[in-house]
Amino acid sequence: MRFFARREPVKGIAPDDTISAERAHVRRAFVKAWIPADAVGAELGVYKGHFSKILLDVARPRELHLVDPWFNLTNEWGWGEGNNSTIDALINILRYFKPEIEAGTVRIHVGDDLDVLERFDDGSLDWVYIDSSHAYAHTLAELEVLKRKVRPAGVIAGDDWRPDPNAKHHGVYRAVQQFIAENDYEVVHTGAYGQWAIRRRGEA
Ligand SMILES: C[S@@+](CC[C@H](N)C(=O)[O-])C[C@H]1O[C@@H](n2cnc3c(N)ncnc32)[C@H](O)[C@@H]1O
Repeated sequence: MRFFARREPVKGIAPDDTISAERAHVRRAFVKAWIPADAVGAELGVYKGHFSKILLDVARPRELHLVDPWFNLTNEWGWGEGNNSTIDALINILRYFKPEIEAGTVRIHVGDDLDVLERFDDGSLDWVYIDSSHAYAHTLAELEVLKRKVRPAGVIAGDDWRPDPNAKHHGVYRAVQQFIAENDYEVVHTGAYGQWAIRRRGEA
C-alpha cells in the first residue's frame, strides 16, 4: 500500500497582496468608469486574481467568468512577486472566491480563452477584460471572437496599452489598432497603467 504525504494547504494569498496600492487604486477607478456594473463579464488571464477581486468589489458583476489555463499552460507564470506556481494561484483563487463560486457569481474556466469563449452564446457578455498572453496574433484572435460574444453595446477592455513599438507588450496595442481599423469599433479610453477600452461606434 502506498502512503501519500498529507498535503498542507497552500498558505492563503490574498489576491491583492503583491500589487502596488497605486496600481490597485488606478485599476479600481478604471473599473468604476468603464466596466458596466451589475452585469455579466469575463476576465481573460486571471493568474492570482488581483484584478478579479477589484472587478468583484467595484463592478459587482451578476456573473464574473474567470478564464485562464493556469497549470495547463505552464507550471509557473513569471509575473509579479512571490509564489509563481499556477497551481497555487488557482488553489488560492478557489479558496478566496469560495463564497462567490458557491453562489454562482464567480465561474472558473480552466482553459485557453479562445476555446472557452466559444462555449458562450453570441451577445451573452456585457463586457470582457483582456489580460492574457499579450501576444499580437492571440490578442487579435481574442478580439475577433469577442466581436461576436460581447453584446453590441458592450465594452471590451484590457491591460497593457503600450504604443511604444519597443515595449514588451506592444502586441496588444498593435492588435487593438488593427482590430478597430478593420471593424466598426473605437477606442473610448486609454489611461494610466496601460488601461484601455473599446466599444462599437455609436454605442456610447
Ligand atoms: C498578467 S497575468 C494576468 C493578471 C491578472 N489579470 C491580474 O491583473 O491580476 C496573465 C495570465 O494570462 C494567462 N494566459 C496566457 N495565455 C492565455 C490564454 N490563451 N487564455 C487565457 N489566459 C491566458 C496566463 O496563464 C496568466 O495567468
